[in-house]
Amino acid sequence: MSVLGQLFRTKSLDELVAETHEEGHQLRKALGPWNLVALGIGAIIGAGIFATIGTAAAGDHLRPGAGPALILSFVLTAVVCAFTAFCYAEFASMVPVSGSAYTYSYATLGELIAWIIGWDLIIEYAIGNVAVAISWANYFNTFIGGFGLNLPPWLRIDYTTAARKMPELVAAAPHFFGIPIVLNLMAFVIVAVITVVLVWGIRESASFNFVMVAIKLVVLGFFVLVCFKYTKPENWHPFAPNGFHGIAAGAAIVFFAYIGFDAVSTTAEEARNPKRDMPIGIIGSLIICTIIYALIAAVFTGLIPYGALVKTLSSEQAEPLTLAMKYVSMPNWMVGVVALGSVIAHTAVLLVFQLGQPRIFFSMARDGLLPPWIAKVHPRFRTPHVATILTGIFVGVTAMFTSLDEMVDLTNIGTLFAFMLVCIGIMILRLKDPKRERPFRAPGGAFLFPILGALSCIGLAYYLPPSSWMRFFVWLLCGLLFYLLYGYRHSRLRHPVAVPIPALGPDFNPEQQLPESDLEE
Ligand code: ALA
Repeated sequence: MSVLGQLFRTKSLDELVAETHEEGHQLRKALGPWNLVALGIGAIIGAGIFATIGTAAAGDHLRPGAGPALILSFVLTAVVCAFTAFCYAEFASMVPVSGSAYTYSYATLGELIAWIIGWDLIIEYAIGNVAVAISWANYFNTFIGGFGLNLPPWLRIDYTTAARKMPELVAAAPHFFGIPIVLNLMAFVIVAVITVVLVWGIRESASFNFVMVAIKLVVLGFFVLVCFKYTKPENWHPFAPNGFHGIAAGAAIVFFAYIGFDAVSTTAEEARNPKRDMPIGIIGSLIICTIIYALIAAVFTGLIPYGALVKTLSSEQAEPLTLAMKYVSMPNWMVGVVALGSVIAHTAVLLVFQLGQPRIFFSMARDGLLPPWIAKVHPRFRTPHVATILTGIFVGVTAMFTSLDEMVDLTNIGTLFAFMLVCIGIMILRLKDPKRERPFRAPGGAFLFPILGALSCIGLAYYLPPSSWMRFFVWLLCGLLFYLLYGYRHSRLRHPVAVPIPALGPDFNPEQQLPESDLEE
């Protein structure tokens, strides 16, 4: 087979499905439709709604804001996500295996693209979690600030944001050999704590997720109910101060708030009836979150006038929801409830994504694209500790030194790219394997939704700043280099081995670790 042929060689879908039925590799099929919807909401609601809506409404030095038309930004993004969600639903019901976009592309677009997607998913999970950790720390600082406990300002912010918005803070910070010490301490601390918990051994449990989802919904419901009477209709005028450009730029930012519906597809092997329930879980959670987001956007922009929001956010770091509440002088305890609820909501997202990243590493190591020691299992705690600790160090250290907006933009571009490839994968499969049973089909024939999905993902990414595109391409180039130096030579698809590598699922089975011979490689 030619080199090109090898690079684009695909895994067979039937083999993928058959692997999940192998003795010892089966995950417990315990999830019903409501569990799946709740899982989706659990992964979706987090920093996006609590943190990014400020920049989306007000804009920043790189782009215009949506203003009160923020609600339209949310609707626009929901439509873009809906096209992709239908494609995910078609894939997940047709190929009920875990692994999500990475696995789908291995089966349709070949190894090279699968590698790129896997590498790209590190952006969605790990960089996404950097953003969530930064936002967690911001709300945590607001929460403890309510009790008069304040860290020094130079331990509450990253250097870039401080230098741009608060140069006096940088000047007043302690210096080490002339370098100002300015970092987000709590963002590192929360990631460190979560990493320890995950190495110790915590499992995703449907009931834990239900509690977290309930807390998120209660807090957001509380925000809408108590703030509604403080809204002023005049704040909704002018409705779209920066026209469509502002709305689209806002949509590209709040896309972050929707990331997570795709995570439902990673549980396909654990669904009781994936053919019916995968589409329900993916599309249902998307619809529910869209309604919640539209309500929050309307109330938020009704509380604080566009001009005041722009002015505040350009000169300080502020958490949008509590900022708006303070602006209308709401009682401290109400602000505290939202800040605390937000901290809890963020923690749940951090846990889910910090748990998901090692699982993606595991799949890639299982396929030989990453060194097998990455998927080593701790002899006592029986968790994939190496991947978990590596992820923790990467996320925690990055979160100390980067700005929320930069990380949100990078996450969005990476995830939009993954979504686009999933849409293309659906089209390829409809052409390559038209007779395969499709319990759920994206409506509009073979191409309508996938084409609209792929194009609208590119369209949304167009509104992200050029610096994010640049970072994204550098990341992809690094990935390509790694593949050429390592993955290409170790891929199991092209160098099959006799010993099968087990699957890593939520019920991670310590007995199912990589063979010792591989670990020593
Ligand atoms: N959608 C997730 C959040 O907003 C990533 O935190």
